[in-house]
Amino acid sequence: MLPTAPREPALAADTAGARPRRLRAHASLRELVAESEFRPSQLVAPLFVADEPDRPGATELPALARRTVDGAVREVGRLRDSGVHAVLLFGIPSRKDAQGSGAWDPRGPVPRAIRAIKEHAPDVAVIADVCLCEYTDHGHCGVLGDGTVDNDRTLPLLARTASAYADAGADVVAPSGMMDHQVGAIRSALDTAGQPEVAILAYAAKFASSFYGPFRDAAGSSPAFGDRRTYQMDGRNRREALRELELDAREGADVLMVKPALPYLDVIAAAHDRFDLPIAAYQVSGEYAMIRAAAARGWLDEEAAARESLGAIQRAGASLIVSYFAGELGSGSKGRP
Ligand code: PBG
Repeated sequence: MLPTAPREPALAADTAGARPRRLRAHASLRELVAESEFRPSQLVAPLFVADEPDRPGATELPALARRTVDGAVREVGRLRDSGVHAVLLFGIPSRKDAQGSGAWDPRGPVPRAIRAIKEHAPDVAVIADVCLCEYTDHGHCGVLGDGTVDNDRTLPLLARTASAYADAGADVVAPSGMMDHQVGAIRSALDTAGQPEVAILAYAAKFASSFYGPFRDAAGSSPAFGDRRTYQMDGRNRREALRELELDAREGADVLMVKPALPYLDVIAAAHDRFDLPIAAYQVSGEYAMIRAAAARGWLDEEAAARESLGAIQRAGASLIVSYFAGELGSGSKGRP
């Protein structure tokens, strides 16, 4: 090949007048043409409820702190004042067993927190995570049989757990265990128990991810052996994720969730294109921890990075976003990046 002589870049005739920068000249112009924006009212704050709270300052990840029922009620009040009107509850029991029976105990931390929150702030949307991993002594998301997690023996336990949370007053139950047919089992249990109005937010495409570490430390829910790859999805599979979403939609899910969020924006976008149901995304503990850790070193601005990430998740197609930044990004905080 002959070397080509350097040339002045010529403007193509049809783009000669195009100056995209015109509409970026100042903030008011940029606001007029902004295509998307996430709102505090679409955020869901995860809350960990335990019998004993953490020592103050026990974690550098304050949104992962364990709270008592009273502490959770106080936090809900604070969130509500900042425009965040939804919480996702996880329970940390004081005792665990092979079945995870603490999950459906009506005196457990989650049912007590649901009742207390509904009493003090009835307008706040209360979503209860439904999984056994915080309650089993082996840390898996279902009961064991033959050295693996037994799908079908786990289903009635999840259904019972969901019913207990519905009884306590949860608006939404959110099965996160990735058992096949968990949504169908929960829907029929709720309907049979006279709770047809309780919605199901399905963790439909939940990937086996390395970004769950801080959550497992906070919830004490790491598996005692093996990993979760026989039930959570393989991160390489987008088409399989769409199939999981489809199954949950057909089993009666009201909202379909993709988790984690930022590493799976393509799945969120595909889910939004394919389904008419609202799409949720979970910006998980590792996503939160990465931004906090970098900010603690002065490498990036925490609030700006959090807003930019949440904006991307929203732009990809999530209408509700579970985020540990919810408590920091309400209306009281400073402006956009
Ligand atoms: C329970 C559950 C997990 C998360 C949400 N629900 C942990 C896991 O699957 O190991 C992770 C959330 C996070 O990392 O923020 N099954």
